[in-house]
Amino acid sequence: MKRFSTSFQKMLGVSLIGILKCPSLMIARYGPIHPHTAPKLGYSSFVQLGRPRGVEKMQDRIEIFLGDITTLATEAIVNAANNGLCGGGGVDGAIHRAAGPKLLEECQSLGGCPTGDAKMTQGYNLPARCVIHTVGPIWRGGSHGEYEALASAYRNCLELAKKNAIRSVAFPSISTGAYGFPKDRAFRIAFQEISKFLDQSKVPEKVVIVCFSEDDYSRYTEAITEIGEADPKSREL
Ligand code: APR
Repeated sequence: MKRFSTSFQKMLGVSLIGILKCPSLMIARYGPIHPHTAPKLGYSSFVQLGRPRGVEKMQDRIEIFLGDITTLATEAIVNAANNGLCGGGGVDGAIHRAAGPKLLEECQSLGGCPTGDAKMTQGYNLPARCVIHTVGPIWRGGSHGEYEALASAYRNCLELAKKNAIRSVAFPSISTGAYGFPKDRAFRIAFQEISKFLDQSKVPEKVVIVCFSEDDYSRYTEAITEIGEADPKSREL
């Protein structure tokens, strides 16, 4: 835990303030992630699944962070974009504002992005070196392929990161804002896809799941704890 905290801390450029331990979840409290855009909130969980299988891997490689994704100095951050990759509100708007106008210029040269797919650009003024743009599904009741499309968005981002040898990636909660995907279900799909991918691949080495509100943070950590305590087979979609 200490070894991991120190190396991950170095990678993100953060300072560790203190550690609080719970039976099934370890929570670390962090100081500023980026000196110029320090988030007001910013604590992270190191997930420790309740079953022996996968404990070491997941504990070392997935972190839950509460705050603004645009402040993170992971090698890549993921954008929850639209099919036109033309910018918008929510996390998309925040990423474009923080990256500056050159991001939109590059996005416009990419010819859009189908739902469930992913494309990569530079990060420009962001602390992250690059941005992986993906498009999650718009929630239409759950019988229009939304679950698979959301899983595919996570998978394709991770595949793209792997292809480009990206060591650390931060994800927002794709589709859970303007696109209306029910959060608890989206959190489970996200965590299951990420942990499944990391089980099979050494790259990316680290994944940060970003929650933008206290409520999302508690719901996410609860969902993960439940998945960890369930039979390992339930981690499959
Ligand atoms: N950092 C981290 N997470 C954020 C941030 C931020 N700065 N801003 C918003 N979020 C969170 C929201 O709280 C939500 O849980 O990102 C999640 C996704 O919400 P949206 O940004 O609305 O994305 P999505 O639901 O996928 O809708 C995509 O919104 O703005 C448009 O162009 C975008 O049309 C696309 C649509």
